[in-house]
Amino acid sequence: MNLRNQTALITGAGKGIGKATAIALAQEGVNLGLLARNRADLESLQQQLTGTYSIKVSIATADISNRGEAEQAVETLIGELGSLDILLNNAGTAQFGKLVDMAPEQWEQIIQTNLMGTYYVTRAALPTMLKQNGGSIINIASTAGERGFATGSAYCASKFAVLGLTEALMQEVRKSNIRVTALTPSTVNTELAVKAGLPIGDEDRMMQAEDVAELILAALKLPQRVFMKTAGIWTTNPQ
Ligand SMILES: NC(=O)c1ccc[n+]([C@@H]2O[C@H](COP(=O)([O-])OP(=O)(O)OC[C@H]3O[C@@H](n4cnc5c(N)ncnc54)[C@H](OP(=O)(O)O)[C@@H]3O)[C@@H](O)[C@H]2O)c1
Repeated sequence: MNLRNQTALITGAGKGIGKATAIALAQEGVNLGLLARNRADLESLQQQLTGTYSIKVSIATADISNRGEAEQAVETLIGELGSLDILLNNAGTAQFGKLVDMAPEQWEQIIQTNLMGTYYVTRAALPTMLKQNGGSIINIASTAGERGFATGSAYCASKFAVLGLTEALMQEVRKSNIRVTALTPSTVNTELAVKAGLPIGDEDRMMQAEDVAELILAALKLPQRVFMKTAGIWTTNPQ
């Protein structure tokens, strides 16, 4: 399936998996709406992409854990792009610690970003897809959404919830030709993994953000009739 001239909104597009996917989609001729909190990251990526590819790239800053900011940014980006075919709910945060050791504010922030942020952005973007009777939503969950582990109570709860949201929404909108998929990567070599102290091990054998971007493109190119609930991706680095 050719993605040329489609439009995609990517949350967390300034770094890591979101940035790698923006570059991969730009190579395919997809017009992009990029969202993150850090404007400098977005401006630099916008400059890089518009200097290389004949595509439109719009940017908007927002903290997706804030409903008002998320709604405003989605409205701005869809308004500038004129349509929306692909939504990549990628922005996320990770912190690990024993349940009693983590401050309630830290716990809440993880749920507020990874779950509520995904919900706020999706709620703001979905009406455009429903109106045009088609689209793809890809939510970046994690292996932590499939199995719990010690110190992961907040992160695992947030990613289990993203999988539940994905499955329910998939059933809700499939008759409108909207495909909702979740990807469940294990550790990927990004700033998030390094900052959270995840085992990176041998960097050459680690999954890179570009590898996840390739899987996202493959999922987007599946025939429109194919519905894939989740796609797991495992690093070669055993944990
Ligand atoms: N890396 C891994 O090992 C791994 C494994 C499985 C799943 N994942 C998931 O993959 C997704 C992307 O992670 P990554 O590893 O690529 O992380 P990353 O390199 O840290 O990038 C995260 C991006 O999200 C943005 N972001 C974070 N919080 C945000 C907020 N509240 N509002 C708006 N934007 C926000 C960040 O930009 P700003 O700071 O500028 O906002 C950044 O652009 C996350 O959902 C993560 O949980 C990662």
